[in-house]
Amino acid sequence: MSKIIIAIDGFSSTGKSTVAKQLAKNLNYIYVDTGAMYRAVAYFALENELIGDGFFKEDDLVNRLGDISITFKFNETAGFAEVYLNGENIEAAIRTLKVSKYVSPVATLSAVRRKLVEQQQLMGKDKGIVMDGRDIGTVVFPEAELKIFMTASAETRAKRRYKELTDRGHELSYEDVLENVTTRDHIDSTREDSPLVKAEDAIEIDNSELTIEEQLETIVGLAEELISK
Ligand code: DC
Repeated sequence: MSKIIIAIDGFSSTGKSTVAKQLAKNLNYIYVDTGAMYRAVAYFALENELIGDGFFKEDDLVNRLGDISITFKFNETAGFAEVYLNGENIEAAIRTLKVSKYVSPVATLSAVRRKLVEQQQLMGKDKGIVMDGRDIGTVVFPEAELKIFMTASAETRAKRRYKELTDRGHELSYEDVLENVTTRDHIDSTREDSPLVKAEDAIEIDNSELTIEEQLETIVGLAEELISK
């Protein structure tokens, strides 16, 4: 049995993290949500008034990157590792539409990407990891043994996200969520540094019509074949 790296990339709200979390559990692997790390930086920028409506103090944020420490701690009840910013649990605070709105511009900054990619590569150095994001199979682990690229229509994704947020008590409109999903798709796939693209050797899964169980069955099957080699 060998340990492998599983990279799961794709557009926002494709349900990557739901499947990745479950996959890691099934394989007894570590799960890392890299989107949470970019969200943590965006949260820091918002808290410190480095980004907001109509302004983005990019240089100031870059100069303060040394003040940002992102860690993960496993929560037994939740069943996954939650994200901490300088020791503060921000798992719930980074899932708001406000953070979603500012995270893509923050993620365009090369200095931010360099810092986070370095940390992600360290976390995966012993393999046995499932990592989801936008550039895992292309930049973070181009040598990953299994690469999945998840897609679904923007409307399907916005509907899922809208349900998730309203279930959690957020008040917002479906139109706002759809607008956020399509704007982020655009920024994430057209940015200069590490744009969201499907790695040549990634397996594409359109999950518009698939249940989580069906997606898991496919990916676990692919992973087990590689692990048993
Ligand atoms: O997966 P998510 O929606 O929580 O990610 C939030 C944002 O972070 C996403 O819009 C783009 C950015 N991101 C990135 O640029 N690279 C990654 N590996 C993960 C996320």
